[in-house]
Formats: sequence, C-alpha cells, structure tokens
Amino acid sequence: ATTLGASAAERGRYFGAAVAANKLSDNTYVTILNREFNSVTPENEMKIDATEPQQGVFTFANADRIVNHARGRGMQVRGHTLAWHSQQPGWMQNMSGTALRAAMLNHVTQVATHYRGQIHSWDVVNEAFADGSSGARRDSNLQRTGNDWIEAAFRAARAADPGAKLCYNDYNTDDWTHAKTQAVYNLVRDFKTRGVPIDCVGLQSHFNPNSPYPGNYRTTLSSFAALGVDVQITELDIEGSGTTQANTYRNVVNDCLAVARCTGITVWGIRDTDSWRASGTPLLFDGNGNKKPAYDATLAAL
Ligand code: XIL
Repeated sequence: ATTLGASAAERGRYFGAAVAANKLSDNTYVTILNREFNSVTPENEMKIDATEPQQGVFTFANADRIVNHARGRGMQVRGHTLAWHSQQPGWMQNMSGTALRAAMLNHVTQVATHYRGQIHSWDVVNEAFADGSSGARRDSNLQRTGNDWIEAAFRAARAADPGAKLCYNDYNTDDWTHAKTQAVYNLVRDFKTRGVPIDCVGLQSHFNPNSPYPGNYRTTLSSFAALGVDVQITELDIEGSGTTQANTYRNVVNDCLAVARCTGITVWGIRDTDSWRASGTPLLFDGNGNKKPAYDATLAAL
C-alpha cells in the first residue's frame, strides 16, 4: 500500500499520530492526517487538566473534536491519559489522601464513561515509575494515596468502558536491561497473576541521544507480549535526520512487525514543526509537510 495506515493495516496493525485539536483547521496538517494515519491520540485534550479543569466540571469539547474527526473517517482513537502525576489541574495538585484517591477514581470513571465504546485503547495510567536504577514507583500525590492506586484506576476504567483495551504507558522502558523496564514488567506480571484488568503496555519510545533506540528493543516488546498483553509503541519520535534517522525508524518498525502482539505504532506528531521537542526534527514529515527519508524507510518497512 502507499500510505502508512493502509500498509500497517495489511500487517494487521494500526499506524497513528498524536493530534492537536487546534491544528484541525490547518489544511496541510489535516491532509496528511487523513491520508496517512488510521489511528489518533489526542496530544493534550484528554489529559486531566483539559477534561476536569474544576473538580466535577468536565469539558470534552476539544477531545470530542478529535474523536469525531477520527471516527468519522474510520480511524481508531487511543485515549491518553486517565491518571498521571503531570498536567493535573490545580485543584487536583492540591489534593492528597483519600480525597485525592476518590477524585482520581471519579475522574477515571467519568472520562472513560463519556467515551465508552469509542476508544480502542486507554492509557489508564501514565509514567508511574521513577527514572534511574531504583525500579521504584515515582513519588507523586497519586502514589502517596497508596501503592494500589494503579490497580484501582485500572479496575475503574474496566468498569466504565469494558470494551476498551487498558494500557499502562511509560517512557525509558525500551531498554530491556533498564531497571524501570523491569519494574513495569513486574507490575504487569503481578496484574496478570492476580487478575487485575490490563490488556496492553505502551512504550512511549521518545528516542534521542540521552535515551537512544536500544538494540534489545525487540526483546523488550516480545518479553511484555509473553506476559499475555498487547504491546503498543505509543509516542514514537526519533531525534536526528537523514539516513541515520531513517534507519532507526526502520528498525523500530521491523521490531514491532517481528512481535505478533505489537499491534500498532503512534508517532508523537505529524510534521517536525508539530513536535513537542522544541528543537530537533524527530518526525516523519518536515515543516512543509514533505515526506522525509524517515517516512520512506517507515513505509518501506511496513
Ligand atoms: C506532551 C505534549 O506533546 C506537549 O504538547 C505538552 O506540552 C506536554 O506533554 N509523555 C506523554 C505525553 O505521555 O503526554 C507528553 O506530551 C510527552 C511525554
């Protein structure tokens, strides 16, 4: 096939992009989105600060615009994200203890209920583990409500939208030897053993000189998959340019295709100028919307 989405579909997979609601009026952007991708992730519009800016007051207009754009064109939607230490509204940042636990669970329930039946996969919990060699949970107001906050969030999400795949999503979990990767692996194994609902692991996969694409990435994907969960590459971007960048994109695609339960890839933006990385050129299209060597390598590998 001649597009990323159609080629991925021939491989039984999706190829998605992070989308910003305020760019849906940009013709170049929308033309590429509609042509190339068959899955979208709202880049910020489903986060807690966006969907519950005041406690108990839910605002879905921007996220709904993305969901409606996508579903109206047959694209899947990844929901991102229900519970996270970052991009919390001020009222939640100031909460703790049982009140925060209840507010978090209510948020999960309300948002997942609003989108019930419309979300392919939810990033139920994002970035709950610490960086470095500890393998510990990240300290956060949510973590301080008790170590069981993650499973509580997953149970609430399952109850609210039984048809959505429920993912744990994180970064720097690409290198199989990394303590954080092993910590997430142990969480998923524990959930599967105890029957806590979890269907997928999202590897953000933001690759740059500080966290480069690891040679054992395929081992990481297959190891998670062997626990009985799908694996999704959820926020892919690769700093660099030219042939070097193209080769890394090719390697990532080949690794995913080599693992039956690696079910899809999402790039974190469309053009380089859409990237959250202020400087750098980590995506598949240049600022003018032209296909880069990384695009050609990705399409050829699919
Ligand atoms: C980023 C967005 O791309 C930015 O627009 C925003 O300012 C900050 O968040 N990990 C995640 C994403 O899970 O939600 C982050 O997205 C990038 C890192």
